[in-house]
Amino acid sequence: MLQFKNKIPFIEGTSLHDVINVCQTPFYVYSQDIITQKVEMTKKILGKNIFFSVKSNSNQAILKIMQSLNIGADVVSVGELKRSLSAGFHPSKIIFEGVGKSKDDLVFAIQKNIRLINTESLEEIKLLQKLATEKNKTIDIGVRLNPNIDGGTISKISTGKKTDKFGIDINEIENIINLVSNCNNLNLIGISCHIGSQISNIDVYKNTFIEMKKVADKFVSAGINIQHVDLGGGFHVKYNKNDPEFEIKDIKKELDRCFGKSSYEISFEPGRYLIAEAGILVTSIINTKQNGGINYLIVDAGMNTLVRPAMYNAYHDIETIKNITDNSVSYTVAGPICESSDIFIKNVLLSEQSIGDILIIKNTGAYGKVMSSTYNTRPLPSEILINKENFAIIYSSDKIEKNIEEDIIPSWL
Ligand code: LLP
Repeated sequence: MLQFKNKIPFIEGTSLHDVINVCQTPFYVYSQDIITQKVEMTKKILGKNIFFSVKSNSNQAILKIMQSLNIGADVVSVGELKRSLSAGFHPSKIIFEGVGKSKDDLVFAIQKNIRLINTESLEEIKLLQKLATEKNKTIDIGVRLNPNIDGGTISKISTGKKTDKFGIDINEIENIINLVSNCNNLNLIGISCHIGSQISNIDVYKNTFIEMKKVADKFVSAGINIQHVDLGGGFHVKYNKNDPEFEIKDIKKELDRCFGKSSYEISFEPGRYLIAEAGILVTSIINTKQNGGINYLIVDAGMNTLVRPAMYNAYHDIETIKNITDNSVSYTVAGPICESSDIFIKNVLLSEQSIGDILIIKNTGAYGKVMSSTYNTRPLPSEILINKENFAIIYSSDKIEKNIEEDIIPSWL
C-alpha cells in the first residue's frame, strides 16, 4: 500500500508526511483505491451478491464507499444496522444476523424492512413470529445453520463447529421445517452459514458448499421455497509471507461445481478480504530501551489501538519509513499499555530507530479500529481516508478529557 517516490512514502498520490503533519499518531490510514479494486475484483469473480461484513470496519466513510460500489451490508447488531442505514445502504441490501438479537433489535429490523433477518435459534424464530403477528406483517427470514465443519482456523475465530455458539445445528432441519410451517407471518426464503475467519483451505469451502446445497434441496423438497443461499465470509488474507496462498478464483470453481445447475441466489459476506490490505496503522516511537538483551521500541499505539496481536497472536508486518535500507537491528516492538501481552512483533529486523521515528503496522484495515478501546485511559485512534491526492480525517480522536467527563459520580461521593 505504501510506495516510496524519491524516498518519500506515498499512499496513492498523497505523501504520508503530509498526513503526519496534521494528525497525531497513532492513526489508521485507508486507501480508497485499494478498497475499490478489492471490491470490484470480488464482484467480478463471485457475482454481485456481496454483503460487506460491517464488523470488520464500520466507519461511515468506509461504508459509504462500499455502498457506492453497489454491494450490501452484513450487520450483527442494531448499532451496525443503524450505521449502515445512515451511510446510505438501502434496507433491501442489508442482512441482519448475530447470535444475540434482543426483542427491540428485531422490532427495529422489522420496521426497517431489511432484506433478511437471519435467525440463529428456534427460540428466535418463535419470537419473530410473535413480533410479526403483533405488527401484522409477513416477514422474510433466513436461518443460519451450523454445518459442523472445522475451518482449520484458530479456535477464537472458528464459528462452524457443532460446539460453537453460532447458528442452528444442521441436524435440526426437521424441527425448523415443522416450526416455520406453522409460522404464518414468516417466509423462510434463505439459509446461511459462516464457518470461521481466515480460511485458506479450499476443501473446507468445498465441503461447506456441498453441505449447504444438500440442506437447501431438503428444505425445497419439504415445500419451503429457499431462494437465497448465503455462504458467509472468512476469505484468507496473507499477513505473513509464510501464510498459504489463497485465491477466490478457486472458490468460484468449487461454487460452480456445486451450485452451477441450481437456481439459488448465492451470496457471500466477506469483511477482512475487502478491507484488511487497504489499511495501515501509523505509530511513533516514544521510547527505546534494552531489557535482558532485547532491543525494545516502545510505540504510541498499543493493544488498545490494535488488539489482534495480543488477542489472537496475530502477525502484522512492521516497516519503517526511514530512508535507510540497512535492516540490521533486531527489535521487539511494544505498546505503552501496562500488560506483558502488549507486544506487536518480536525480533523484527529494521534499520536503526530512534525516538520520534515512525513505524507502519501493515494490513490493519480489518478488525483494527473497530476493536480499539480506551484501556489505560488512552484515546481511540483517528482514521484517515486517502483518495489520490486528497485525504480526509474520517474519525477524529477525542480528547481524553472528554472520556473522563463521561463518568458520572453519584451524589453521595
Ligand atoms: N459473516 C459472519 C456471520 C461473521 O461472523 C463474520 C466474522 C464474517 C461474515 C466476516 O468474516 P471475515 O470475512 O472478515 O473473515 N476479530 C477477528 C475476526 C472475527 C470474525 C468474526 N466473524 C480477527 O481480528 O481476526
